[in-house]
Amino acid sequence: MNAGTVEHYLRPGTLQLPALPPLSLYVHLPWCLKKCPYCDFNSHESKGAAPEARYLDALRADLEAALPLVWGRPVISVFIGGGTPSLFSPEGIDRLLAGIRARLPLVPGCEITLEANPGTFERERFRAFRAAGVTRLSIGVQSFQDDCLRAIGRVHDAAQARAAVEEAAAAFDSFNIDLMYALPGQTLEQLHADLDTALGFAPPHLSIYHLTLEPNTFFATHPPPLPDEDLASEMLDLIVSSCAGAGLQRYEVSAFARDGHRCRHNLNYWQFGDYLGIGAGAHGKLSFPHRVLRQQRWREPARYMERALAGEALSQDEEVARAELPFEFMLNALRLREGVPRALFGERTGMPASAIDMAVLKAQQRGLLEADLQMLRPTGLGFDFLSELQGMFLPARAPAR
Ligand SMILES: C[S@@+](CC[C@H](N)C(=O)[O-])C[C@H]1O[C@@H](n2cnc3c(N)ncnc32)[C@H](O)[C@@H]1O
Ligand code: SF4
Repeated sequence: MNAGTVEHYLRPGTLQLPALPPLSLYVHLPWCLKKCPYCDFNSHESKGAAPEARYLDALRADLEAALPLVWGRPVISVFIGGGTPSLFSPEGIDRLLAGIRARLPLVPGCEITLEANPGTFERERFRAFRAAGVTRLSIGVQSFQDDCLRAIGRVHDAAQARAAVEEAAAAFDSFNIDLMYALPGQTLEQLHADLDTALGFAPPHLSIYHLTLEPNTFFATHPPPLPDEDLASEMLDLIVSSCAGAGLQRYEVSAFARDGHRCRHNLNYWQFGDYLGIGAGAHGKLSFPHRVLRQQRWREPARYMERALAGEALSQDEEVARAELPFEFMLNALRLREGVPRALFGERTGMPASAIDMAVLKAQQRGLLEADLQMLRPTGLGFDFLSELQGMFLPARAPAR
């Protein structure tokens, strides 16, 4: 039997298909009670009840049309994000998850996260999300100080934030609190108080983001007075030491977790895994033996529903250029404090290690990266100057003629 013949490849053990990365599912629910002035996510004021039933129909049609691209692949995590997914009724979330389970093989114990806003909090609602199959609630608190919440235009106050976290802790084994820091007018003492309150709930997971002024937001055109760089860096030191003191490990730039509670879904993004994204404006990344596809759905909810129901949810579908893969991989992987196994680069990009060897060496020489035969890991310095380190993996530009 000759190597290269069909018979050869049909012999057990001879067909060496490259292993595909783990697959996650992201579902975008785009409505909020009110648009926050700093937010550049694809979120829209609901102005009355969101068209829940029609949107769920559109999601089902979107998923059905995407199935041939992920046929037979197990799904390791589901993330229902927004927007404000907790605006949807528990019955709607139940229908959504039943539809997903009927079409995709979720692994046993699959992590299913839902983002919730304290402004949509009702005690029974959180428990009903749990009963629908959500295993992890992520609560967008941002701050526990009324002054700070007002300064960033949130719809909820500090008391609602506390009540929502208390209920999440009672209803869910795993939950996350989202906070932001370097808020308009925020002092170190206010951040201290936020951390004390948050850590007082013994959260299994905490995400703390530096507020950024994103283009195309109200804050970009009406910038509020923000803490200067020195104060922001003191704030970060306080966050890192307070979380460490409370047993939460900083495993990614903005993510802190107890053992066993790292977010599997986000870890899959950072390890350059695959994800199918359904819903308005959702992005996806899917690998095939010889290429990586990037997809995007129509952003505007009404248009998305119309097109998805007609079987045309995609607004963009393109192959990632090979030259961009090293940067895309490192952009994600270097966010992880413990780095990634060196072999993962080849497994996830299909490219030889030599594609990053020069940049790895330069980053090592500048003290930004630790690299051995097993691992690639940012140093403490590299973690502090992450954009610089990531930038070293940008594709070389063609010389100007
Ligand atoms: C997609 S948002 C959804 C959460 C939910 N809608 C909410 O706001 O309560 C996820 C998190 O991103 C963070 N975030 C949003 N805009 C940000 C910005 N401009 N700068 C830093 N963090 C931001 C917030 O902490 C927010 O909870
Ligand atoms: S609630 Fe969240 S998603 Fe909605 S506008 Fe505010 S930050 Fe954006």
